[in-house]
Amino acid sequence: MKHYHDIAGDGGSRVLEQVAEQRTRITDGLAGVRHLVAVGSGKGGVGKSTLTLHLAGALRARGLRIAILDADFNGPSQARMAGVQGAFVVPGSERVALPRTSNGIAVFSMGSVIPESEALEFESASQGESHTWRATREFALLSEILGSVEWGALDVLMFDLPPGAERTVQYADFLGSRTSFVLVTIPSEVARGVVARSVAALSKGRTRVLGYVENMSGYYCRDCSAIKPLFAAPEPSGLTIPCLGTVPFDPELARHCDRGIPLADLPETPVGRALEHAAQQLLNSLESASVHASRELRQSGMEPHR
Ligand SMILES: Nc1ncnc2c1ncn2[C@@H]1O[C@H](COP(=O)(O)OP(=O)(O)OP(=O)(O)O)[C@@H](O)[C@H]1O
Ligand SMILES: [Mg+2]
Repeated sequence: MKHYHDIAGDGGSRVLEQVAEQRTRITDGLAGVRHLVAVGSGKGGVGKSTLTLHLAGALRARGLRIAILDADFNGPSQARMAGVQGAFVVPGSERVALPRTSNGIAVFSMGSVIPESEALEFESASQGESHTWRATREFALLSEILGSVEWGALDVLMFDLPPGAERTVQYADFLGSRTSFVLVTIPSEVARGVVARSVAALSKGRTRVLGYVENMSGYYCRDCSAIKPLFAAPEPSGLTIPCLGTVPFDPELARHCDRGIPLADLPETPVGRALEHAAQQLLNSLESASVHASRELRQSGMEPHR
C-alpha cells in the first residue's frame, strides 16, 4: 500500500495541470466580459431569479450585451422565466453557443437541458454520502460551464445563485474578486436577518458587495394603481450596505415569469420604473467599483484588466 508521503507531486494524475488548464480556459473565455455580477441572498424565494432576469432586461434595453448563468442547477428558474425551456444549447467548434431570449439575453440554465419532471443527479461513490460530493460536483460543473460556453464580448454576465447563506459564501469564494455581489431581501425581519448574516459572512472575504435590492417592497394593486403595504418591517432595513433600489410585488410580473414572456408594458408600471432605477444604480456602482479597482491596480504597478 502506498502512503501519502510516498506520493510525489500529484501522483502522476496530472490533476494539478488539469485544474490549471481549466482555470486558464475560464479566464480566456471570460476575457471579453466587462462585469461579473452575482445575485444572491442567504434567503430563498425572495426574488433572486426574477430580479436577475429583469435587471438584465433593463440593462439590455439600454443596449448593453448581457448573459445570465443560472447557477441553481437543481432548482433552475431562468429557463422558464426567460422563455428558453427546451431551447438548444449548441456545441460550436471551440465552445458552446447559448440560446437567447426574445430581447437578446444569452441564457444558460439547466432548465433548458433537463425537463422539470427530472432532477439533476450528482453521482456519489456510496449511498448516503452524496452530501460529501455535492458541493464538489456542483462547482466542478460550474467550472465546466464557465470554461465551455462562448461568452464572447459582454458588458455584464449575471449569475443567478441558489439560496442558502452557506452556499452564497461558497459561490463568493469560487467566483473570486472579479465578481461583484448584489444581495436580495424582502422587507420582512426574518429575511433581513438572514441577509444581514450573508453580509457579515461576505465581508470576511475579498468579495465586493455592491449593495442590496429590496424586493416585494409593497404590493402594486392593478385595480386601484396604488402600492399597498405587504410586510410590516420597519424602515430603514438595518443592512449595512447600500440600497440599490426597492421593487414592489406586481402579480402581473409573477404571471409573466411563470409563462416566460417579457412584460411588454413594464416600463410604464411602478415595478418597471423600480427595476429601471435599480439597474441604473447597479450600473453606477459597477462603474465606480471598476474605476476604483483600476486605480488600485495602477498604484500597485499592475495594468488594469481589459
Ligand atoms: N416583485 C415581484 N413581483 C411579482 N412576483 C414576484 C416578484 N419577485 C418575485 N416574484 C415571484 O415570486 C416567486 C419567487 O421568486 P424567485 O423564484 O425569483 O425567487 P428566488 O429567490 O430566486 O427563489 P430561490 O431561492 O428558490 O432561487 C416567483 O414565482 C416570482 O415570479
Ligand atoms: Mg432562484
